[in-house]
Amino acid sequence: MLLNDRFLKACLGEAVDQTPLWLMRQAGRYLPEYNATRARAGSFLGLAKNPAYATEVTLQPLDRYPLDAAILFSDILTIPDAMGLGLKFTTGEGPSFEHPLRTEEAIKKLSVADMDQLRYVFDAVSEIRKALIQNGEQRIPLIGFSGSPWTLACYMIDGSGSDDFRHAKTMMFSRPDLLDHILEINVQSVAMYLMEQVKAGAQALMIFDTWGGLLPDGWYQRMSLAAMQKVIELLPREHEGRKIPIIIFTKGGGLWLKDMAQIGADVIALDWTMSLSRARKQLLEIKKPLALQGNLDPLILFSGVKQIESATSALLQDLAKAPALKPGLHSLDGHIFNLGHGINQFTPPDSVSTLAQTVVSQSKALRVKQ
Ligand code: CP3
Repeated sequence: MLLNDRFLKACLGEAVDQTPLWLMRQAGRYLPEYNATRARAGSFLGLAKNPAYATEVTLQPLDRYPLDAAILFSDILTIPDAMGLGLKFTTGEGPSFEHPLRTEEAIKKLSVADMDQLRYVFDAVSEIRKALIQNGEQRIPLIGFSGSPWTLACYMIDGSGSDDFRHAKTMMFSRPDLLDHILEINVQSVAMYLMEQVKAGAQALMIFDTWGGLLPDGWYQRMSLAAMQKVIELLPREHEGRKIPIIIFTKGGGLWLKDMAQIGADVIALDWTMSLSRARKQLLEIKKPLALQGNLDPLILFSGVKQIESATSALLQDLAKAPALKPGLHSLDGHIFNLGHGINQFTPPDSVSTLAQTVVSQSKALRVKQ
């Protein structure tokens, strides 16, 4: 039994008593207890590859804040690591691969990730599911995730983070056939990876397309969106009688909302460049009543209590003025509160308390007002 199912209900466009909240990167370096566990584990990968540690850090933010979902502690780069690209995390520099895909020969040798190499991720999912049970009931649902085929390809080709992913985009413009080949392998890998997470206990899935917004219009649809659609088509929509909602997030993708609504996802996550009310109206225009997730600018959490309260309330009030998703629902239904991107590592933990308290009180108060 699930004690708090607000998040799953909101994903499926059902009525809830208050707006569910979770934060991208909710377990992470802004929390002192995370840094302590990471020090014990020795490194980020030591943490992510050990299911007991991964479980411990997944639960940390839930003990501090009234969050309505847990997200598996892992990383999107586990897939290319399992393909043999050799993932390294250097402190202060972020992730890099020892063997980026820079030659046709390397690309032709690439094969679908071996799920046995990713067993530690699926073990973490089942361990987290067990740890979420308190007095015989599951506190909140668990989200599993993957990177999108295109976003994974960006790191696989460039070999590390980048402002422009020059190598990946150069390959796309000059040898789109090579990129298509990588994307096809990523589609198969991502779909299998997400399916295994569902089998291990993930109750919703999110696809992070962090770098889709780097693409020109037209190329986005052809390279990133089409690959996400193929992944979704390969996924089971139900597991053990329950629907598994799928959330897609293309950072910087607001202008493509109507395209994103066509690929079979249940929820569209937005960054802060698009207002929730405008997004809601656009989805209703095309008769695609999908739920929305987002989209407070994470840097608001560096301002004062008053500013955090007013920015959070303003975001809810904006959506409250938009038309409801379906007749009989409140305008605030079909929304999951989140940030527009991952929480910054320097965020004061108390700012998150202010945000969470405001979401709870305001989203209840606005629902009573009607
Ligand atoms: O949301 C969560 O709490 C779950 C955990 C999670 C992590 N990474 C842990 C992490 C999730 C969902 C991710 C996804 C991820 N990883 C994305 C997509 C979402 C986004 O933020 O755009 C991307 C692009 C990555 C790749 C990645 N991993 C980068 C670029 C970095 C370094 C930069 C940074 O923000 O630190 C990581 C490392 C990483 N992944 C950390 C965490 C908590 C920090 C590592 C550390 O502890 O040193």
